[in-house]
Amino acid sequence: MVWVSAEAIAQWRQTAQQQAIVEEIPSSEVDWLLQSLTGLDRLSLRLNLPEAIELPFELRELETLWQRRIRDRVPVQYLAQSAPWRQFSLQVSPAVLIPRPETELLIDLAIQAANSADLTAGIWADLGTGSGAIAIGLAAALPNAAIHAVDISLEALAIAQANATALHFDRIQFHHGRWFEPLAPWQGQLSAIVSNPPYIPTAMLADLQPEVRLHEPQLALDGGADGLAAIRHLAIEAPKYLRSHGLWLIEMMSGQAAAVRELLQQHGYQQIEIHRDLAGIDRFAIAFTPPLAKDVF
Ligand SMILES: C[S@@+](CC[C@H](N)C(=O)[O-])C[C@H]1O[C@@H](n2cnc3c(N)ncnc32)[C@H](O)[C@@H]1O
Repeated sequence: MVWVSAEAIAQWRQTAQQQAIVEEIPSSEVDWLLQSLTGLDRLSLRLNLPEAIELPFELRELETLWQRRIRDRVPVQYLAQSAPWRQFSLQVSPAVLIPRPETELLIDLAIQAANSADLTAGIWADLGTGSGAIAIGLAAALPNAAIHAVDISLEALAIAQANATALHFDRIQFHHGRWFEPLAPWQGQLSAIVSNPPYIPTAMLADLQPEVRLHEPQLALDGGADGLAAIRHLAIEAPKYLRSHGLWLIEMMSGQAAAVRELLQQHGYQQIEIHRDLAGIDRFAIAFTPPLAKDVF
């Protein structure tokens, strides 16, 4: 750790904010980066800097880091190696998608569905866990549930596991593999599956903003020709793994709701609902597998 004078920090902050404006990057990212590196709160940064501030490295290294934001368009969360998500601060690296604010709503929908369908104590799976955000959100919200988290990327799983350990969620079991494959021992037993799968059509990847296109993992983004490859697989395979009246809950992209609803209808799901995110976009699909004949009276 290195002590840097308040004056030097203030000067650096001002220049960085000016650069951000020129490059059309939110200037608030400068403070966000400083806060995550120093632990200072927003008010101290703006109004009342202490005489000297402890940085994890020299000011010139902070400047090198910031230039990666400006020049290479590296997302600020990768520079800080952390991202706020729900009540957590999650470790992130370029091996994982930066967890998005809209995905936070997936947990609220999961909680509502768990309560209304009496699934709070069952076995839940987060498919394509990335940073572990959804699995951790579920573990926090459902203290009596067992949580399984799957990812095909070993590097992502290592980050997810580190996040779960740091936040003391030892109820999450992590599995390496393709979607349901590692969950074979739980066939017919899952109460719910939740997923934010890759859903961007391949041809659209080239048009994404450089922060996403150049730095976030392709594996987390590419949903195949129509963007629905992973969602289709999850819809077709889930009934083998879910128990009767099990919950299927996924995130999707704008414009996919009608196709996802039709897919779910074709495969016999019931109580299909589409939910919007805070921007009003049809973003989430919820459905239930049919109850087994023996459960229906
Ligand atoms: C859109 S990211 C979601 C990450 C995290 N759940 C979130 O919401 O921030 C999709 C994740 O699915 C994983 N993935 C892609 N293909 C997969 C597959 N065939 N089996 C399991 N996971 C897969 C990726 O590695 C990535 O972590």
